[in-house]
Amino acid sequence: MSTNPLSLKLLKKLEIAARRASTKAYAPYSKFKVGAALLTESGKIITGCNVENASYGLCMCAERNAINTMVTSGERHVRYVIVYTPTTKPTAPCGACRQVISEFGPAARVISVCKSKKRIEYSIRTLLPEAFGPSDLK
Ligand code: THU
Repeated sequence: MSTNPLSLKLLKKLEIAARRASTKAYAPYSKFKVGAALLTESGKIITGCNVENASYGLCMCAERNAINTMVTSGERHVRYVIVYTPTTKPTAPCGACRQVISEFGPAARVISVCKSKKRIEYSIRTLLPEAFGPSDLK
């Protein structure tokens, strides 16, 4: 399955949504506020932010919170994941998030954006080659 390219207008909209979501992050420990915006199969934009916990191991990333919200809203397929980090260079999602994105978007495109104008686009297959997935359980 391939993913159609994004229009610049929609990309801007997703970037703004991801950055706005980062302002809602609960990150009193790392102070690293991350926002994610998903473009779903149906064209909806769904956002998430990281939510930390005093029990550090329970911290949840922005990308996974967004995916969980997408599933809760009744959608199961993500086309694009835009990740905003408060950095000068774009940063790629953590390993756990790559696995979760792959589950719901095996052909998803991930675009990392940051405080500067720099952005990097990857396919989830590049970020997580040889992924374990639903078909491995058949
Ligand atoms: N974080 C994310 O939200 N997404 C990532 O892809 C990397 C890390 C969060 C988790 C934690 O709250 C903070 O950033 C520092 O690791």
